[in-house]
Amino acid sequence: MAMPAPEGGIILGIETSCDETSTAVVRGGGEVLSLIISSQVDLHAGYGGVVPELASRAHLEALLPAVAETLKDAGVGYGDLDAVAVTRGPGLIGALLVGVTAAKAIAFALEIPLLAVNHLEAHIYANFLHFPRLEPPLVAFVVSGGHTLLVHMPAHRTYHVLGETMDDAAGEAYDKVARFLGLGYPGGPVIDRLSRKGDPEAVVFPRAMMHDGTYNFSLSGLKTAVINHVRKLRQRGEEIPVEDIAASFQAAVVDVQVEKITRAARETEVSRVVLAGGVAANRYLREKLGESLEGKGTELYFPPLELCADNAAMIASLGWRMLREGDISHLDVDATAVLPLA
Ligand code: KG4
Ligand code: ZN
Repeated sequence: MAMPAPEGGIILGIETSCDETSTAVVRGGGEVLSLIISSQVDLHAGYGGVVPELASRAHLEALLPAVAETLKDAGVGYGDLDAVAVTRGPGLIGALLVGVTAAKAIAFALEIPLLAVNHLEAHIYANFLHFPRLEPPLVAFVVSGGHTLLVHMPAHRTYHVLGETMDDAAGEAYDKVARFLGLGYPGGPVIDRLSRKGDPEAVVFPRAMMHDGTYNFSLSGLKTAVINHVRKLRQRGEEIPVEDIAASFQAAVVDVQVEKITRAARETEVSRVVLAGGVAANRYLREKLGESLEGKGTELYFPPLELCADNAAMIASLGWRMLREGDISHLDVDATAVLPLA
């Protein structure tokens, strides 16, 4: 059903892969006419993590009103839409199904193309959305609650995965350490904030695989080291210096990331690095990586906070590119919990 996609095509984006119900209208891939992100954080906070069934039900309630609202905010009607883009995976299957089913219904009823988007790819495309002149080749570091991927991107929509996590994703490690310290969910932003007042050299935690010559990561040993350290202090009846521990944990995570990203940029000879995904919001990572790349002729890009976290604008933006390439989905496309980037 490939059809010539208009340059300024108006795309409705839908994102329901995890705990944010998000809808957006984006024109021409780069102009965000409206963006709604309705977070379920309060719903899941008491459980220390996302409860999949609760997430699906909350998406079901929130999604159609959010579609109506985002169209209204954008000042467009259903008839103005050129296509609908939706996160197909990876993510929580029940949550994804809500978005995919709604998008199919809209595409079918309006007789417009359906664009089934890879969530990880869309995180990378949040950078192209925000920086219209940005172009590959580049190295992308995709870090979220479920993924840690270091990727060489020689051209648009072409990915060579250089390395990934062997165990916990970066966001997952932040969330688990925060939960152990009683800091609530999601843990990344809290640890990021507390670290500002802590000493990153207070405790020397392990930097796993830092100089192993690969682009892979491992965080489960670090997580255990933090937990053991805190247990020891508790057993001795000592006060827990939460800020120092947060800063020291974060420094151990970021040191390895900066080392591997910097080496990847050098070895692939790219002059641009982009951060993508929820953990790309991390202030220390942005700072330390910026320092490491400075003077090496390599520019660092990261999306604004709103576009780092899960959002439908990045889905619509990548959808626009897919539409132009004729990469259009059939209405029988399935949501899928597991979906590789490449
Ligand atoms: O991309 P995202 O919103 O959802 C997934 O696709 O997983 O990423 C969520 C993850 C959570 O684990 C959260 O703790 C982490 O991103 N995160 C951060 C920060 N903000 C969010 N981690 C470190 N520092 C932050 N400032
Ligand atoms: Zn995400």
